[in-house]
Amino acid sequence: WTPLILQPQIQPVFAPLVGVFCFMANRILVGAQWGDEGKGKIIDVLTEQADVVVRSQGGANAGHTVRVGAKEYILHLIPSGILRRGKVCLIGNGVVINPTSLVGELDGLKQKKVNVKGRLYISDKAHLVMPYHRELEACAERVKGKNKIGTTLRGIGPAYGDKIARTGLRMADLVDTKNLEARLRTRVREANRLIKAFGGKAVSFKAVYEEYSKAARRLKPFVANTTKMLHDALVAKKEVLFEGAQGTYLDIDQGTYPFVTSSNTTSGGACTGSGMPPNKVDHVLGVIKAYTTRVGGGPFPTEDDDIGDMLHNMGREFGATTGRPRRCGWFDAVATRQAAQVNGIDQLAITNIDGLDKLPEIRVCTAYKLRGKTIDYVPTISEDIEQVKPVYETFPGWQTDTTKAKTWKDLPPKARRYLQAIAKMIDAKILIASIGPARNQTIFV
Ligand code: IMO
Ligand code: MG
Repeated sequence: WTPLILQPQIQPVFAPLVGVFCFMANRILVGAQWGDEGKGKIIDVLTEQADVVVRSQGGANAGHTVRVGAKEYILHLIPSGILRRGKVCLIGNGVVINPTSLVGELDGLKQKKVNVKGRLYISDKAHLVMPYHRELEACAERVKGKNKIGTTLRGIGPAYGDKIARTGLRMADLVDTKNLEARLRTRVREANRLIKAFGGKAVSFKAVYEEYSKAARRLKPFVANTTKMLHDALVAKKEVLFEGAQGTYLDIDQGTYPFVTSSNTTSGGACTGSGMPPNKVDHVLGVIKAYTTRVGGGPFPTEDDDIGDMLHNMGREFGATTGRPRRCGWFDAVATRQAAQVNGIDQLAITNIDGLDKLPEIRVCTAYKLRGKTIDYVPTISEDIEQVKPVYETFPGWQTDTTKAKTWKDLPPKARRYLQAIAKMIDAKILIASIGPARNQTIFV
């Protein structure tokens, strides 16, 4: 017996409805490459349907760009859902927060007349990024010399380090004004010992205390038990959307270690970083660029200077957080397929398709060769990933402007063929094809 709605002869009638139902779901959005996949834009588009948008890991190392009309917003800590009126945004327990950066971001939104009152909440369990974390990170990167990770220098690694070492301070500590001074004094003293050992610049307790007390006053109204709020939303059958930061290959466990960030950027991190029960997740949407980019150090098998030069000459692929030019390369189906497996990706959003509009030929890496052997997975050791030789399949380019397409059928046949081919290699369904930064440059497939 097949339910009526699934019977082939009925499907054309119900298809639009199925499309609507597809959206009534709790969804985790993850980057399936090395970050900067265009997650901010896709979140913004999907937020139209969702009720609650949650950040659950990472910190101000993320840079999510959203274009609304003529205005461009770059969000680092605040969920991109904030740009849609009436949507509730949660910053979950798994995020590390620099209170001063967060206040700066709030000021930026205020200037652009985005009202956050009553719809932004910050977990009281989220850990703080402190000025000594930044200093420690700068020292650690300096010591590594040419082997440095190339971090965003936002203090992310040392803040997560303190969390795991159980010496961190949390939002709950920040707004507990009675005890803040004593807690800070102890931590600054301990951190300064380490900084001195590294030959770095000690931080002043007085300056930190003043800066953080000021930020605490501003942030206090936003601090809440977001885990409970999330559960209340689930009980009320609200739709929840998780805004992943970074990408699968920057994941502390699944990424190209040690050239990674310090959080779980994969879908499991959305649950632990917010209190979301895994069995309440309906879909995992992987966001991928139609090619690949990476910023910072570390192995990148399909890196190619020609495609990099072309994209940079088009004014594309400069980092939203640090302004660094991103490294660029061909689409890597080996890495992305593995990303789909570890995240449970069942839906895809493919972005930056228009970045390939000019190319006569487009290459896709379908396997790696490592020491003469063909492999279909990403090796564990970064030196091995450095050594792999990509095996490429070549697709004809469409050499047509795609930026004005409104429907899937408007895309050139060669572009559709390319996109369907990579989706097949990853074994996931394309939900969204994105052909530019604007909201209306989005095709639902
Ligand atoms: P979004 O959310 C791209 C990279 C850094 C560095 C490594 C570790 O915008 O996709 P960290 O400061 O996190 O300790 O740096 O991770 N990185 C990102 N690359 N997009 C991001 O975020 C990134 N966040 C961190 O460049 O290689
Ligand atoms: Mg970014």
